[in-house]
This record gives sequence, structure tokens and C-alpha cells, in this order.
Amino acid sequence: MRMNTAHTPDLSAFWMPFTANRHFKHHPHLVMAGKGAYFTLHDGRTVFDCLSGLWCTPLGHGRPEIAAAVHEQLSTLDFAPTFQVGHPQAFELAARIARWAPEGLNRVFFANSGSEAVDSALKIAIAYHQARGDARRVRIIGRERAYHGVGIGGISAGGIAVNRRTFGALAAPFVDHLPHTYDPEHMRFSRGQPNWGVHLAEALERLVALHDASTIAAVIVEPMQGSTGVIVPPAGYLERLREICTRHGILLIFDEVITGFGRLGSNFAAQRFGVTPDMIVFAKAITNGAVPLGGVIAEQSIHDALMHGPEQMIELFHGYTYSGHPVACAAGLATLEVMEREGLIERARLLEPLLEGEVHSLRDAPHVADIRNMGLAAAIDLTPRPNAPGARARAAFELGIESGLLLRFTGDTLAVAPPFISTEAEVRQMVATLRTVLARVP
Ligand SMILES: Cc1ncc(COP(=O)(O)O)c(C=O)c1O
Repeated sequence: MRMNTAHTPDLSAFWMPFTANRHFKHHPHLVMAGKGAYFTLHDGRTVFDCLSGLWCTPLGHGRPEIAAAVHEQLSTLDFAPTFQVGHPQAFELAARIARWAPEGLNRVFFANSGSEAVDSALKIAIAYHQARGDARRVRIIGRERAYHGVGIGGISAGGIAVNRRTFGALAAPFVDHLPHTYDPEHMRFSRGQPNWGVHLAEALERLVALHDASTIAAVIVEPMQGSTGVIVPPAGYLERLREICTRHGILLIFDEVITGFGRLGSNFAAQRFGVTPDMIVFAKAITNGAVPLGGVIAEQSIHDALMHGPEQMIELFHGYTYSGHPVACAAGLATLEVMEREGLIERARLLEPLLEGEVHSLRDAPHVADIRNMGLAAAIDLTPRPNAPGARARAAFELGIESGLLLRFTGDTLAVAPPFISTEAEVRQMVATLRTVLARVP
């Protein structure tokens, strides 16, 4: 990109996360400002924010209501511990989130990120079984291709090979994985939930037979896999996981870090699919990306099982200095307020058929190998260049910036998840520009 060197900071000290650091520092893109569905880059160029930040800014950037709530909170109470004292914002936000959640899931534990929230949910699952005298239930079942963040629990349950390769030695020992549900032969270019693949849930029965239900604490899945490229669950699959878990006394955890707070056109994916898990993990959209916040919504009986022993004793030996940080909670309350007031989840639902029709119109564009979608999210797989995996999607990313789109790519998959505030014209324009990008990608 054309850099305005007068304002270029020294790029050497910041060791960037999940980034090819050397490449970035030779070809930097700096984001200077965000307003609505657009970012302004270092050279003054404006780009449409195709992935709502990293799936976390559905309301668009620069929402004055969130800025005002954060400012007010910082001025009134910038920090208070939530160990042994409390402050109103954490209680209010927990109550509000519980009202958004499926019935029965009404106890909220706060963390600061999706990764911490995943680890918290896994610890709650183990502690729950222990509290009920079932101390043998320590095994966690994850799924291939799952992304549950970068904590030790998350990489253990997660199934993205490169995340596990280096750090596998640290991974929890009692973990197994379901097969992932993506099979291009049977579901290429399917719209919404594929009709093939419900039988893949039966793998859970096999894992139960292998390990014995009495050793399994929980199954954790993303109801719709986001980071690995919008992999939508086959019709009936989540229902079947639910049945098997219930039958064997295994907790079912939905990692809704991406799907929580509207991405699938309902409060949570649980409501969209009509499947109620025992715990929901959330992060990202809860504060519209303004302040880090994550957490776990637990079914009341899980919480209650841990409320035993002398009343003055800590029941769950777990928590973070910033669990329920007042500024994060203020941002969360403002975000939910705006979502409710402006009916933005309904809006996401209304935009879904438009996005679906538009992205699938790219089917015949050059290099397109598959397209998947659900809610306000879609992925486009490109055929990799021979001997250069990822190079084609990276080229699309660079051409996207030139053409006014900030795209997200992993491997050779492009993902889009536009802000809920996007207009119909913006969704159409995003796909039209993408078409021109694909026509130019070498
Ligand atoms: C499903 C899921 N779980 C967990 C995480 C980790 O969240 P964080 O990056 O906030 O730690 C992510 C991040 O993309 C995610 O998509």
C-alpha cells in the first residue's frame, strides 16, 4: 500500500498475533479509523469491513452510545474487583445476558476473551461432575477443525492441526475428537444447512463406547464453525449430539464466540437451531468489539450443583482479575441496548437471504471451489495454486484492499460476515467488488 511515511510508526516491536510478521512489516496495512461499516486506512483509502472486525463489530464502528457508556463508566468507576466485592454493572449485564439466552441458562461467569471463556467452561464442566461425586468424568470431546481459541483447554479441544502441532505437548491428556462435518462431495454449494451428514453425530456414540460415558465430562462444539470457514451443521446433527449427551449424562457446550449475539439472526445459535446446550461460551459481539469481554452462560443446575459446602467457602476456584470489568460491562450493556432498540438481530435475519443469493452468484467466478453460508456469514473456498497453498486467497486479500474491501482469509478460504447495519446496497456492492477481485486474482 502507499504509506504516508510521515505518520508511519516503528513496526518492529509489536509481535503481531496470528500474522505473518515479516510479510506484514514489508507490506503493512494500518487501520487508522473506523466509522459504521468502513475502515479508513493509512493512505486515506476507505474499505468495507467485510468481517465485522474479527466477527466482533456487528453494530459498526464508532457507535456513540457505546463510547458514551464507556466514558461515563471510566469517569464513575474505572475498576473495582469482583473478588469478594461487586459492582452493579456486572450483575446487570449478567441478568441481561441471561434474558437473551435459552430458558434455564441463567448463570453467567465472566472472562475477558473467547479463549478464557472456553477454558472456563471446560473447568466448570469438570468441577460440576466432581461436585456431584462423579470425579471420573474428566474427558472432553471436541471436534476436528474446531477453533476454541488459544488457551490450553481451547487447543486441547480444538481441532485445527496447525494450532495443535507446536503446542500439542501442553494439551490436556483426556481429550478426543468427533470428525468434522465438511464433505465437499456431498455438500458443495449447499445453502444454509446441508441435508447430508446427520449420521456423523453417531461418532459420538462410538467415542462413548470407546471411553465409557462415565469418563466423559463434556462435548464442546461450535454450532456453526466460523474460523475454519463457515462450516454449517448438517440438518439434524446438533439435535442428535444433544440426544446422545443427555442419554449419557454428558454436558453439551456450544462455543458461540462467533454465533452469539445475532450472527445467525437469533440471539444465539442455540435458538436458531432449536437445540439447547448446557453451557454457552460467548465473547466478541457482546461489546461490539469495543472492550474485551467473554464468558460462560451455564444452566442453573450446573451452577447450583457447585453451591455446596460451608457458605463462607469459595465454590469455584476460578476467575480473572478482570472478570466482569466495569468498563467492559458498560460496553456490553450499551451494545445489547442498541441491538434491542434498533432490532439489529431481526435485521441480520432479513439480510440473510440477500447475502445467500449474492454470494452463491459467485459460483461460476474464477477459482471458486465451494461456497457456504448461514445467517450473516459466508465462506468462499478458492482452488489453491499448485505448490502455493494460501497464495491465491492472499492475492485476493491484497486486491480486495485495492478495490475497497477488507476481506478475511485463512488458507485459501475467504470469509465474509458483514455488520448487521449494512444496507442491502452495501451487501450487493461487497459481492460485486469481490467478483471483480476474483476475476483479477492470478
Ligand atoms: C468459536 C471460537 N471460540 C473461541 C475463540 C477465541 O476467542 P479469543 O480470540 O477472543 O480468545 C474464537 C475466536 O475466533 C472462536 O471463533
